[in-house]
This record gives sequence, C-alpha cells and structure tokens, in this order.
Amino acid sequence: MQMGKRLGKIALAWGVNHVVPVIQPRMCASKLDSDGICLLVGRLSGLGRSPLSMLVRIDARKLCFLSRSGARSTKAKDLIQKLEQQQVRVQVQTCDVSDESALTSAVDCCTRELGKIHGVFQCTMLLRDGLFANMTHRQWVESTQPKAQGSWNLHKHLSDDMDFFIPLSSFTATFGRRNYAAAGRMKMRSPYHRRVRGWHATTVDPGLMRDVGVLAETWMMDAFCEWEKPYGIREVEFLALIERVIDRAQWAPCHLSVKKAGTNTPYYMEDARFSIMARTGVRDGGSVIAASDAVPAHTLVSQVKHFQEAAASALEVLVKQVAKMLQTPPSEIDTSRFFHSFGIDSLVAIEIVNWVMKEATSTITVFDVLAGVPITTLCNRIAAKSTVLPKELVPSH
Ligand SMILES: NC(=O)c1ccc[n+]([C@@H]2O[C@H](COP(=O)([O-])OP(=O)(O)OC[C@H]3O[C@@H](n4cnc5c(N)ncnc54)[C@H](OP(=O)(O)O)[C@@H]3O)[C@@H](O)[C@H]2O)c1
Repeated sequence: MQMGKRLGKIALAWGVNHVVPVIQPRMCASKLDSDGICLLVGRLSGLGRSPLSMLVRIDARKLCFLSRSGARSTKAKDLIQKLEQQQVRVQVQTCDVSDESALTSAVDCCTRELGKIHGVFQCTMLLRDGLFANMTHRQWVESTQPKAQGSWNLHKHLSDDMDFFIPLSSFTATFGRRNYAAAGRMKMRSPYHRRVRGWHATTVDPGLMRDVGVLAETWMMDAFCEWEKPYGIREVEFLALIERVIDRAQWAPCHLSVKKAGTNTPYYMEDARFSIMARTGVRDGGSVIAASDAVPAHTLVSQVKHFQEAAASALEVLVKQVAKMLQTPPSEIDTSRFFHSFGIDSLVAIEIVNWVMKEATSTITVFDVLAGVPITTLCNRIAAKSTVLPKELVPSH
C-alpha cells in the first residue's frame, strides 16, 4: 500500500488474534539529584533489594539503609560492596522504624553525614499472619507496627518536598482480611496525608512477586502456587512500575494477565474493584479463568432429590478442590479423615471457607473446617447450609 503499486481499494480485516506491533516509548525515569539521599527502609533484603540498580542508573549516589538487623547477612554485605564499587555512598543503620525516637536519631545521623533526604522507599514487613480469633496481641503488634507506625513516623519526620515517598504495600491490602492486609491498609495512610497536601507520595501494591521477595525466596504454597502464574508479577514489571512512580507518571504499565488459566477464580475477583481484571481475557475464549469443565457445586446441589445426593455432590467438588490445593490426586484424599490431618492450617481453612461460600453458596466457619470431624461430616454440613438446597430436603436434626 505504501509503495503505491496497487490500484483500487484495499480492504483491511481485523481479527481478534491479530497483533499490532507497537514500539513503546522507553519508560525511563528522569535522573535524580545525585546529591540527594534515598532512604531505603527494609531494603537490604527481599523485594527491597530489587530496584537498587535502577536507582543507581537514574543517578542515586547516596543510599541510606535502615532495618533492624542492618548489614549482618552475607547477601547484604555483598550488595553494599557492589554499590560502593559503583561510586555510591552507602550508610547502613540498625533501626526499628516503628520506634519514633530511633527513627529520628537515624534520620539525624543520615542527614548530618550525607546531606538532604530526597526520597524514601518503605519496604518493611514482618509476617505474623494468622486467624484473628487465634492471634496473640504480640502477633498483631509485630505485624502491623513496622508498616503502620513505621510509615507514619517516616511521614512525620521527613520533609514535604521529597522527590518520592513510596511505601510498598500489597494488593491483598485492598481486599484481604488478615493482619498483613490490615497493616498494608494502614501503610496507605501516610501517602494519603501527603497527597491531599499536594506532596508527592504513592503507595505501591504489588501482587505476588514471582521471582524476588520473601514469597519467591522462601515459600509459595497452597493457593499461592495456583495463583502465582496467572496473577503473580515479575520483577521487570515491578521495576517498570516503580520507575513510573518515581517519575510521577499519570499512567503506569498495567498487568492484566487474567486469562483462561485453568485455576479457580480467586474470591476477590467478584469485588467491583477487580472488575476490569476479571473481564480481561473473556474474548480469549469463554469464561475468564474458567476453573474447569466441572459443574459448580451449587448447580449440582440445587438439582438433587435427596439430601444425601447434595452431600455427595459437595464432597465430590470439595475433594477435587482440596486435592488441587495440596497438589495431590483426589484419590489420595481419604474422606474419613479430618481436614487438619492433611496439614491444613487456618490460612488454608479461610480459603476453603471462601471457596465453599462461592461454590456451594453455603456459610461455614474456619472452625467447621478445622473441627475434628471426617470430611464427609463437614460435607453434610455444607449441603445442609447451602442456600440452594430446597428447604424440605434439609434434615431436621
Ligand atoms: N514478596 C512479595 O511477593 C510481595 C508482594 C506484595 C507486596 N510485598 C511488599 O513488599 C515489601 C517487601 O517485601 P519482601 O518480600 O522484600 O519482604 P522481606 O524480605 O521480609 O523484607 C522485609 C524487610 O523489612 C525489614 N523490617 C521488618 N521490620 C522492620 C522494622 N520494624 N524496622 C525496620 N525494618 C524492618 C526487614 O529487615 P530486619 O528484619 O533486619 O528489620 C526486612 O529487610 C513489604 O512491604 C511487602 O508487604 C511483597
């Protein structure tokens, strides 16, 4: 067409599988003031380490690390050595960021020796997850303080004209129900206070990090294994996002990889806030992340003629689901055993409760899942409490 060798009309057809190659403008943050300090809280480990080479590339030349253990680990020592070889001035201070006086002394020491702080990353985390009912006060405090109080202390004691103020929270903070999620939500408070005053601050809520951070390095189990591929994000995407945030971009790379993943739809996909993600991939073939060809339990239960059939349907789908979570064949699940004898803990029990609610429209509790009763008994309870089971079929006792 461009060469002008054809006469007449050209019809262009557009198919859903056609891809238009586009060269994206390079997403590169503007250079930082090399005289300014980047304060990196909880950044000598895990996900925190990740953006350091990007920071150096955009001219960060003074880095101050704060964490409770400082540079004790070999990895941390190697990292510092590598940074210093790149002409970066590094200061490491041991500091519990949730302790206000410790933080003010650390900030004083940092500004006295290196100059003005121009940006902060707040990456603290202490995982003490558990069910609220079983949680000790100590667990609650330990998990929420580094994020909630830590971020607030940073907001209180750092200036208003910084180039960036980025607390790392988590996508679970937008819908989760555990102390980790609560801590993440509290972490969003300080950027909010800054933004309403017109200061630059953004909370970043990454999803499951697939190749860096504590999950990738230590454990990725149960529902996480299943969700990792369709919903997890890679370091390269995370770095692109951070770079856009530092650059105060109004838009950021968007990760919408929810496709036909062959996994069960996570319960939060029904939340309106995830509706765009939930719809993505519909065109690629039928239902979004359609779990399988299996008929949902609530459809099976609604069609039964006897209560025992309903309980058997609930049992069939629950066994398949739990087998998937435990990464074992369904035939390995002995339904005369208690759930907790399979090593299922309260966190997995919460997933089961949510799943049962969605699949069988039945409200059970974590205590039901962890009770010392056979799985078959639990399934009787699920069937009896299902809202789609005709009332006349529910046993009276
Ligand atoms: N990894 C993921 O998949 C993922 C996903 C979404 C969001 N995130 C978020 O990303 C951030 C970093 O995660 P990560 O995977 O890198 O975790 P990580 O490896 O456990 O690192 C957390 C850091 O926080 C420091 N810390 C904890 N309490 C502190 C306190 N009171 N004062 C100062 N430092 C403290 C720890 O060092 P010390 O023990 O030496 O103090 C550690 O360096 C967290 O905010 C997390 O919520 C992670």
